[in-house]
Amino acid sequence: MSNVNLTDRIPNNVNLSNDRTLQRALEHWQPHFLNWWDEMGPREFAERDVYLRTAVGVDAEGWASYDYVRMPDYRWGIFLADETPDRRIGFGDNFGQPVWQQVPGEFRSQFRRLIVTQGDTEPASVEQQRALGLTCPSLYDLRNLFQVNVEEGRHLWAMVYLLHAYFGRDGREEAEELLSRHSGDVDKPRILGTFNEPISDWLSFFCFTYFTDRDGKYQLKSLAESSFDPLARTCRFMLTEEAHHMFVGETGLSRVIRRALEVMKELGTDDPAAIRRAGAIDLPLLQRYLNFWFSSSLDLFGSEMSSNAASTFANGIKGRPDEALYTDHLALDEALELEVPAGDSAVTTEQVPMRNAMNEVARLSYVKDCEMGLKRWNMMIKRAGHDFQLSLPAVRFRRAIGAWANVPTDPQGKRISAEEFARGIGGWLPSADDRAYVQSLMQRVVTPGKMAAWLAPPDRGINNKPVEYEYVRL
Ligand SMILES: [Fe+2]
Ligand SMILES: [Fe+2]
Repeated sequence: MSNVNLTDRIPNNVNLSNDRTLQRALEHWQPHFLNWWDEMGPREFAERDVYLRTAVGVDAEGWASYDYVRMPDYRWGIFLADETPDRRIGFGDNFGQPVWQQVPGEFRSQFRRLIVTQGDTEPASVEQQRALGLTCPSLYDLRNLFQVNVEEGRHLWAMVYLLHAYFGRDGREEAEELLSRHSGDVDKPRILGTFNEPISDWLSFFCFTYFTDRDGKYQLKSLAESSFDPLARTCRFMLTEEAHHMFVGETGLSRVIRRALEVMKELGTDDPAAIRRAGAIDLPLLQRYLNFWFSSSLDLFGSEMSSNAASTFANGIKGRPDEALYTDHLALDEALELEVPAGDSAVTTEQVPMRNAMNEVARLSYVKDCEMGLKRWNMMIKRAGHDFQLSLPAVRFRRAIGAWANVPTDPQGKRISAEEFARGIGGWLPSADDRAYVQSLMQRVVTPGKMAAWLAPPDRGINNKPVEYEYVRL
């Protein structure tokens, strides 16, 4: 088991004090990180005590401690999951050989790019969410927002550790750059599109944590298979924390739906206007938000057909999520059948060599995972006696990357003309009206145990505390 050091300036289980040069380099980066947090994080709450979970080790049972902490004093640490003895490469051309403890020279730039891209998303989401605290629907939710924020900060630390420890000077420069790009910045935006979308209301936040953090889960699952063992171990531990982020999204959206159903019952109608007059979020509006965030998050997986994906798989850099579930880890002779647009209105199928289709393989697993929440929500709606069903739009809908990029389809994936698309899109995505209405609901509620009118209370509190616990001391 790894040696956990919680008293160093940077808590860690990587024996940082044995490598003075690395330790000094990271201690030099630390104040830059804190400056970034002060400027780009939830600055209005810097002085407040928040009931937070902090990673203090990697044991399955006791990996976190809970206590009140001011966010700037959060103990951001470096934690890698324990080493698997005699771990072997699980896929690709080097299948069965021992994993790597260093980055092979020939794959250095590919690894660096992957780590930087993953690292970039972590502070990006803190920046995207920075203003949400001012309009929290409850103290419970405020605390969850901050929990997600500090853990994204720790995920940045996780990637910066790898850059510093394994990529020398280039790595240190990249670590600085991770603090100088900013979400939505015109000159220096974040690397991936979705991470430049503003998140200015809590419905978007719940959609983001449901759909976009879940994309993160699948990226981390792929990287957790990597032959570069320190990266694999880093990502395995990040997944432990990431689960809570998706919990926030899934329970958040469930509570929006539960509240809508309560209001529909009280009023005896499913008329959106009546539901809005009662201060809740109507289900058709929610559907438009789902359409927006799901389609935006799908693009994060990249193109369906990708020679880059083939080479990262072949070289053992990035595997499939849950690689162990597959029987053929070389994926040399298989193909994936893909539906692609043909001509102006048709669809044809193409056989893509499996290695080239790895982005799509990951995306399909992701879509299945996304559907689980939808099933539960639809069950709630059905039990309440309504016909309405929420659904995920087709993976072809509103794509900006891949075979379906800029191909007009309706949410069911049927190809339509550009004019039909232009006419329909206003009804498929949140309208200016929808957004203004959601914005009007964003009133701050900070009495312990109280919830905003558009959101049902959670089933239980955090860490066995009651829902009405004072999760943030304002
Ligand atoms: Fe993260
Ligand atoms: Fe996350």
